[in-house]
Amino acid sequence: MEQINIYSGKKAISRIVAAESLRDLPSCLEPYRSIYAVIDGNVARKCPATGQLTEILKNRNAKIKLIETSEEGKTLETVMDICAWLLENGADRDALVMAVGGGITTDMVGFASCIYKRGVRFAYVPTTLLSQVDAAIGGKTGVNFDKYKNILGIIRQPAFTYMCPQLLESLPQRDFLSGVAEMLKTFIIEDNGNYQKAADLFFDISSEYHVEVMMYGKDEKQAWTEILKKHRRTLSELISAAARVKAGVVSRDQFEKDERRKLNLGHTFAHAIETLAQREAMEAEIQQRLPEGVTHGEAVAMGMVLAAKLADRYYRNDRNDPTELEAKISNDLWDCNIPCYCPYSIEEMAQIMKKDKKAEGGKVHFVLPKAIGEVEIVALTVDEVCRLME
Ligand code: GLY
Repeated sequence: MEQINIYSGKKAISRIVAAESLRDLPSCLEPYRSIYAVIDGNVARKCPATGQLTEILKNRNAKIKLIETSEEGKTLETVMDICAWLLENGADRDALVMAVGGGITTDMVGFASCIYKRGVRFAYVPTTLLSQVDAAIGGKTGVNFDKYKNILGIIRQPAFTYMCPQLLESLPQRDFLSGVAEMLKTFIIEDNGNYQKAADLFFDISSEYHVEVMMYGKDEKQAWTEILKKHRRTLSELISAAARVKAGVVSRDQFEKDERRKLNLGHTFAHAIETLAQREAMEAEIQQRLPEGVTHGEAVAMGMVLAAKLADRYYRNDRNDPTELEAKISNDLWDCNIPCYCPYSIEEMAQIMKKDKKAEGGKVHFVLPKAIGEVEIVALTVDEVCRLME
């Protein structure tokens, strides 16, 4: 078990417990007198490890609520529903509210905890790779409102985030790979040798999976679970490494005034891609360019490749071989089985990016990768981006 702290100045304000199994969770719950757990119903039904988790919670007489999650249901109404349940069940200011699920669950339960009785302590047990490496670290909570994603929210740190790869073994492959894209993003920002280690691991996992399923005809789900189990140790090391990077960035810039913006690498493009894919999905008449839809990680993967292309164009005069990084990132993503070719034009994306909620004075902060482990934040207008990307 490894403990990683998030600091405000010299004071540790949140801790991330990275463990190999759920064994150490009871000791994390020890200090709390009353526990209220909100669990994603889908996780409760599909993830075998939640059986053990529920036992741990029952031993502490925790109250448990199941919620159904979706991007559409990430609303103030659901947050109010969680608050109503806390109130009905007598949660006082001493309570610990625990979220078990992916980013939607942790964002909503975190937000409910921030406003319930003007704020009670909360903790996260993230059950997706995406939330273990990103959403459940750093204290961003919130909901969608008026067509904007996460536009209402608060930054406040959970007491602790408990993560272990055991909770990921039943995660569908596509959701898992969505988290791999965010993990690679983290290591493009700060490497310490982990980018290549991660790219190699997920290339191996992808190859082993293809051999088992295509050559030996093994059941897809079973093959995937077994391969993840086999690589649990390295996976655990990489999850901890990604958490250390994010904890460091958040400790230096909790409220995203500066360095934390780096974590948005690829995300301005990604949000435009997600919006365009959703729009096409709602139009029965037109042929969708992403017929299977797009996961957040896939959109981030496409966004990172576009960000590398933008960096190539932006730094063109300063660099010898400007296309190398874009090629490396896209090849590595393909090798991990993460689609990263964006089917939308820069003009289509520009329409959406112009409305980016993070735009300041007509400029958007783009995160430009210069090398693996080195990125720079550059404020550009969307028109400038369009001209560079032509
Ligand atoms: N997901 C980016 C951040 O937490 O700042």
